[in-house]
Amino acid sequence: MQIGLNLRPTAEVKADALVIPAFEDGPPRLELPPQTWIDEVYSTGEFTGERFALARLPQPEGLRARRLVLAGCGKRVDFDAAQLRLVSAAAVRALKSKAIKRVALVLEPFMDAAAAVKAAVEGALLGAYEPDRYKTDPKKEDSRLEGFAVVIPGGANHELEEALRRGRVVAEAQNWARELAAEPGNRLTPMALAEAARAMAEAQGLACEILDQGRMRQLGMGALLGVAQGSAEPPALIIVRYRPEGAPAPAPHLGFVGKGVTFDTGGISIKPSEKMEQMRYDMSGGAAVLAAMRAIAELKPPVAVTGLIPAVENMPGPRAQRPGDIVTTLSGKTVEVLNTDAEGRLILADAMAYARRLGCTHLVDLATLTGAIVVALGHVYVGAFGNNSAWLDRVLAAARAAGERLWPMPLDEDYLEPLKTPFADIANVGPRAAGAITAARFLKEFADPAPWVHLDIAGTAWLEENKPYMPKGPTGVGVRTLVELALAPETASAGETG
Ligand code: BES
Ligand code: MN
Ligand code: ZN
Repeated sequence: MQIGLNLRPTAEVKADALVIPAFEDGPPRLELPPQTWIDEVYSTGEFTGERFALARLPQPEGLRARRLVLAGCGKRVDFDAAQLRLVSAAAVRALKSKAIKRVALVLEPFMDAAAAVKAAVEGALLGAYEPDRYKTDPKKEDSRLEGFAVVIPGGANHELEEALRRGRVVAEAQNWARELAAEPGNRLTPMALAEAARAMAEAQGLACEILDQGRMRQLGMGALLGVAQGSAEPPALIIVRYRPEGAPAPAPHLGFVGKGVTFDTGGISIKPSEKMEQMRYDMSGGAAVLAAMRAIAELKPPVAVTGLIPAVENMPGPRAQRPGDIVTTLSGKTVEVLNTDAEGRLILADAMAYARRLGCTHLVDLATLTGAIVVALGHVYVGAFGNNSAWLDRVLAAARAAGERLWPMPLDEDYLEPLKTPFADIANVGPRAAGAITAARFLKEFADPAPWVHLDIAGTAWLEENKPYMPKGPTGVGVRTLVELALAPETASAGETG
């Protein structure tokens, strides 16, 4: 899709649809002939400015655009860049069609222009995404958007061009994460994910290394290998490295670790069949990390970042690990595997220990880790856990800037108690209570003492129903937060604050 800034006066903008943000506070002022129509739809109550509502006027007099569209934005006081991202996405989703190929969105003058340009572009690209790769109907092409422009009469400058570029890079990366997450288990095996990582790294000039089963055995990654052994598909530990140009980067060195379970049957502790097909998205954390690495390669922040994705398939094959098996992790700690369906924490334990061995000073892991986080936060917020409040605050701030919703969760020592077992250093599950927190507490054993944040995206990585701004399916959550974190100037000084 073509993305650009349009600097012409509103009346001069050529587009199939010219979209104007419209609030519940009252009709927008266009000061062109269609103002009569705008006032009319407001006064009749046909259109109130309700969020995501649209009103369309074909062939608007005095405009070069073929349609004028009012896009409901809700109340002005609640409107910010995050809201603009959603409105832009919803407008694109509703409008893209055989007749509407080029959309132009007029910016609200009261907003910070650079932030608004970035959010509008991200919204348009995210809204244009459809998870229809395996539909063979050629008509699906009819509703593809071809162009999107942000209308800012008068003022382009380098800052706005850069905001547009960042928005495009980040949203395209996020859509790639969604494509990977939507891939079914038969097509995206651990090796296929590794190949996708390798191809991306090559295209972006990143270093990429794939540790195979033999290498993992040499290293002693017993937890990761234990999960993998029930599947005929070999596992892979994918490592992608970004290093800034110039001087050798001092601390911090960020380590992004993403859960890459390409399909999770539960293993011998097998899952019920209902909705098991959803478990193809159990590699969404890994996909988000790969996508963030891709965007980081293009945006080149002055900080070292290593992405690690332990990729496995969790199957109940004849060699599968049994409940009660005891594995030795890379860290040397032993784990009693009481439930083979708590596999994410096992593979992350080895990947995080390896991240520290590679010199990562600050860790963030993303994982579709627990059903319990869905019980706690639903499909709205990502659960955020950490062992260091300064680092957790940085990640929360990055998420806020990126328009992703994270909610801090507790992680007191008390939550270690349920994981104690007489037979090994730690068990991989405890009783049901506080399942998302005990899972995070398990991970902490393998992250300490490095500052670390765990993001449980089990509830937010997949949308179960259509929204105006997003279709049912993969969301790509986490990509924007990771990229923002790598770009934030405060991150480069994180080494000093620990
Ligand atoms: N991949 C699942 C978690 C999950 C659940 C992701 C729902 C997305 C939607 C994870 O591997 C898992 O099976 N967790 C178990 C842990 C339990 C056995 C302690 C769970 O949450 O039920
Ligand atoms: Mn599982
Ligand atoms: Zn899982």
